Amino acid sequence: MLRISVLVSGGGTNLQAVIDGIENGFIENAEIVRVISSNPKAYSLERAEKHRISAMVIGKSNYPDAEARTAALIAALDEARTDLVVLAGYMSILDPKLIEAYRGRIINIHPSLIPKFCGAGFYGHHVHEAVLAAGEQESGATVHYVDEGVDTGPIILQARVPVLEGDTAESLAARVLETEHKILQEAVKTIAASEK
Ligand code: GAR
Repeated sequence: MLRISVLVSGGGTNLQAVIDGIENGFIENAEIVRVISSNPKAYSLERAEKHRISAMVIGKSNYPDAEARTAALIAALDEARTDLVVLAGYMSILDPKLIEAYRGRIINIHPSLIPKFCGAGFYGHHVHEAVLAAGEQESGATVHYVDEGVDTGPIILQARVPVLEGDTAESLAARVLETEHKILQEAVKTIAASEK
């Protein structure tokens, strides 16, 4: 069984996609052993609780010191005997120490077609606003491995969606989010299958 810890900061629809994928049998040979939120108010925490997944907050609110925060994150991942870390709407940048400790075992979902609209400052609605401002005809989502850069690790899967006339950042975000859920489920399924 692939033991997955999911790091979140917000609503957690991508977390829910992984939970659902496991519960409905699409993703085999995997379980979510822990949810860690950087934000004490994240709705993701309720989602975890509803599905009886161990959830905790490790963020600036309870660990203001960056080094202590990274140590707490590594300890929490280790304690859960994590095989795979999934960043699902996680809005902090991981310290190189954590990346080193979990090298090749951290994946991230990003709401654009990397290498476009990624890197520092490109997160959440900022991404979709930039896509619209650039007059792009398509956007999409990317699942990739995480390395020390921001959104720079090897790409696992991408999916495209059209930008439609009259799109707002919200309507584009919703279309991209739907495709995020699919490729994140697909990526986790593939990784879990390769661990059998
Ligand atoms: C998703 O669109 C995710 O790709 C994005 O935040 C949203 C979280 O939604 N992540 C980033 O921008 C990270 N750079 P969710 O909480 O409903 O999964």
